[in-house]
Amino acid sequence: MADVSLTVNGKAVRVDVDPRTPLLWVLREQLGLTGTKYGCGIAQCGACTVSLDGDAVRACVTPVSRAADRRVVTVEGLSSDRSHPVQRAWLEEQVPQCGYCQSGQIMATCVLLTKVRRPTDEQIDQALAGNLCRCGTYHRIRKAVHRAAELTEEGGGPR
Ligand code: FES
Ligand code: FES
Repeated sequence: MADVSLTVNGKAVRVDVDPRTPLLWVLREQLGLTGTKYGCGIAQCGACTVSLDGDAVRACVTPVSRAADRRVVTVEGLSSDRSHPVQRAWLEEQVPQCGYCQSGQIMATCVLLTKVRRPTDEQIDQALAGNLCRCGTYHRIRKAVHRAAELTEEGGGPR
């Protein structure tokens, strides 16, 4: 066991865990942030995607030690009232079906939009290629990413 310090959704936190523990379990079990989902556990589905210092990472295969002294953002950290541009676009386009993959899709989109302000269809497909949706919402996700890019430009950028 070891003390690991990290910043999660803007708050400094310390957890006493085996440093090899996947970040996903620290988020869900130690911190109660269950918006980040467990799908495959082997970096194949993207359900557990979070932002780590602005990059999309698979929390299921990221040891918490890799997040030490770094900034993690989960879907809970986007806004307290669904006002983040990506959340607003998701609602406008009514993207989710079962919803299971969606926090990972949303976090991958947030990271994409901080790197590319107006992504093309190809850039969207490439950025989200590792995020699988069993319900097949890909068409609506793509529309929502374009809408989120518009809302971001109007509103000053995603966090
Ligand atoms: S649960 Fe992490 S990629 Fe599937
Ligand atoms: S909405 Fe059901 S898995 Fe994507």
